Amino acid sequence: MTDVEETTATLPLERKCPFSPPPEYQKLREESPISRVSLPSGQTAWALTRLEDIREMLSSPHFSSDRRNPSFPLMVPRPIRQDDNKFRPSLIAMDPPEHGRARREVVGEFTVKRMKALEPRIQQIVDEHIDALLAGPKPADLVKALSLPVPSLVICELLGVPYADHEFFQSCSSKMLNRDTSPEERQAGFEQLENYLDELVTKKEANPTEDDLLGRQILKQRESGEADHEELVGLAFLLLVAGHETTANMISLGTVTLLENPDQLAKIKADPDKTLPAIEELLRVHTIAEVATSRFATADVEIGGTLIRAGDGVIGLSNAGNHDPEGFENPDAFDIERGARHHVAFGFGAHQCLGQNLARLELQIVFDTLFRRIPGIRVAVPVDELPFKHDSSIYGLHALPVTW
Ligand code: HEM
Repeated sequence: MTDVEETTATLPLERKCPFSPPPEYQKLREESPISRVSLPSGQTAWALTRLEDIREMLSSPHFSSDRRNPSFPLMVPRPIRQDDNKFRPSLIAMDPPEHGRARREVVGEFTVKRMKALEPRIQQIVDEHIDALLAGPKPADLVKALSLPVPSLVICELLGVPYADHEFFQSCSSKMLNRDTSPEERQAGFEQLENYLDELVTKKEANPTEDDLLGRQILKQRESGEADHEELVGLAFLLLVAGHETTANMISLGTVTLLENPDQLAKIKADPDKTLPAIEELLRVHTIAEVATSRFATADVEIGGTLIRAGDGVIGLSNAGNHDPEGFENPDAFDIERGARHHVAFGFGAHQCLGQNLARLELQIVFDTLFRRIPGIRVAVPVDELPFKHDSSIYGLHALPVTW
């Protein structure tokens, strides 16, 4: 496909209302559910807007996640250094059979049972941050006080990364995720974090312990005789970035959404069993990582009746799929009791989010504790003045002034 072909839209499209997908998605889904779109990288790709087509694509063996391949559709200008990374791609960019092997190595770290064991520590972290919030001045920025530090601390302790370095890694990751960052700056953020984790993994290799995930992976690799430093650095990178940015944004967006919908919030306050269903609905409504579900075809393949040719890029617009009336009745309503668990906000198929049990647990503890301990919490500025992240490949909030 060439750059001059006619396309129906140029991605990314902006969310006009901070609580809804870009309005163009509905039109695309109704008129041209599988259509050609232009991307900031200069590429063209297929955009999928129906839930079923997105699931079909993500579970098909004929699509690749290899982000280094020039056919992979990118939502940012192409990186300056694409092929010569010294580190091997991490889980999210691997294809079978390598992906299955690498995922099996680490999946045991994220089971519901393993996450349950983290619960008391996460509760303690949340309580300490709410103590500090209550003791500090009003209004306070919830992003700085709670949303960002809680998941950052949790993932640091799980991995064995010193939390003292949080400002450094948070700034690298926001540079990488911000769409307005120049390719040079994005590359610099990437390299700095890669080098930092390279050193950290090297230190851990000198004295690995069972106390953290990276130490346990090193010991496991040694036992099987398959030590792989580069793969471990890639894994640490992915888990550190995915483990804090995503959940942090969901904490902020979830808090505002619940405060804006007091009838729904009242249901959670009255019955804590409603918090988990509410989290599924919040994940569906916001679908913060909607372009994470991008691929390219490795063979000619038909999806939803359209022929996709080998080498074509495909973006499964999961935020459009999560608002498909075929999958969710009255999709624009925020209804914590709708039973939204079949959403694709965590993706679908082989690459479905590895950290989803951790994300759910963190969100559950945060919302239950926040609204119990600060029942009078409210947003301190008009909601339409809040700095929503329209400029990032992970949607969320840059800041959230609250008072009580
Ligand atoms: C994959 C979203 C939290 C680690 C994914 C994917 C999505 C996603 C959409 C699929 C990407 C694809 O299809 O290529 C989210 C959201 C989160 C969240 C919305 C929070 C609300 C986390 C956390 C962690 C994590 C807390 C780590 C502790 C990962 C990893 C993958 C992944 C490692 C790659 C899995 C694989 O390729 O096999 N996530 N994520 N995520 N996520 Fe998450």
